[in-house]
Amino acid sequence: MGNIGAERFLPDEVSLSSLREAAAHCEGCDLFREATQTVFGDGVPDARFMLVGEQPGDQEDLRGAPFVGPAGRMLDRALEEAGIDREAVYVTNAVKHFKFEPRGRRRIHQKPSAGEIDACRPWLEAEMRLVDPAVTVVLGATAARALLGPSFKVTRHRGEPVPRHDGAFYVATVHPSAILRAPDRDAAYAGFLADLKVAAALP
Ligand code: URA
Ligand code: SF4
Repeated sequence: MGNIGAERFLPDEVSLSSLREAAAHCEGCDLFREATQTVFGDGVPDARFMLVGEQPGDQEDLRGAPFVGPAGRMLDRALEEAGIDREAVYVTNAVKHFKFEPRGRRRIHQKPSAGEIDACRPWLEAEMRLVDPAVTVVLGATAARALLGPSFKVTRHRGEPVPRHDGAFYVATVHPSAILRAPDRDAAYAGFLADLKVAAALP
């Protein structure tokens, strides 16, 4: 099956709970086949900050919640240091199913394709409309592609507020998993924290 997209799985009555329920049955691309479950967004419905990652990882896939593994711990620590209250945050991913390749007993993360990002975008757009955050923190290239388009370069424009609509902004930064893999982890973390502080300081 190709990427027919998530659109036709969206509920008629849109609320975060109806979306979550409907997304659990999404077959908008092939990723639902091997993953354990849909990992929908989670957090405060009227959050000031929306954080958008790439896709659930191994632990997120098993537990059914976003950013509960190593990248999530990194994110929690940075949010706290940036002065962003976890209670003011809604967390989600550009793609809602875990994409991986089995290697022995392990499941190795694979980057979602452009087609999969496009297929899954209706869920993210619906979440954005409902939560309507003042600040959307775009975590890495996949989320940037979904929200800011294929020509947006995170490396060039990270930490720069990009207007979304009247008074609302995107701020793009690297993905927290990239910090865990970086040769100079302290420098990578410092850069990430600086970007989050930009997001925290927006009016
Ligand atoms: N990485 C992501 O992008 N999202 C998660 O939920 C976990 C790891
Ligand atoms: Fe649907 Fe997104 Fe899962 Fe694909 S990744 S099946 S579009 S929820």
